[in-house]
Amino acid sequence: MSVAVYPGSFDPVTLGHLDIIERSAKIMDKVIVGVLKNNSKTPLFSVEERVNMLKNITKDMPNVEVSSFDGLLVDFVQQQKADVIVRGLRAITDFEYELQMSQTNRVIASQIDTIFLTTNLKYSYLSSTIVKEIARYHGNINEFLHPYVAEKVREKVEEEERNAR
Ligand code: PNS
Repeated sequence: MSVAVYPGSFDPVTLGHLDIIERSAKIMDKVIVGVLKNNSKTPLFSVEERVNMLKNITKDMPNVEVSSFDGLLVDFVQQQKADVIVRGLRAITDFEYELQMSQTNRVIASQIDTIFLTTNLKYSYLSSTIVKEIARYHGNINEFLHPYVAEKVREKVEEEERNAR
């Protein structure tokens, strides 16, 4: 059985991420979306909120699971009895970082391979960071996010604004 982990920050999950989840779920028997708990970046959403959003929008995908992880990605992959890491590549600018990560992971755990799916051209410009910036300036984020996630982002931005008053 082929089991893959699709790791990331998913703060928040975008339509670009969702496209990679859908496509990898067609290739693999099972895909575990791994949400990184402790990141140097300060997230907009807590890890529980990010996991819940992912669970909600993948609920109709029977071979997709969502879980959070802390520590090394390769340890999580081994705990999940997976053998492949999936990452999306948007543009050449992603390549250097992704190559470095995949090579490091293979040095630490040589049995784990990384496969890259090129992002759908429709979403090649998209990033969670840009979506958050648009939301904070009250721009329209509906083009970039699943409706459920877009609503959560709007609520979160309103909460941030209330707390800043
Ligand atoms: O969505 P992101 O922020 O690009 O995802 C990055 C992620 C979570 C894949 C990466 O930061 C990661 O694997 N972190 C876990 C710690 C780890 O294993 N570091 C060594 C990898 S080189």
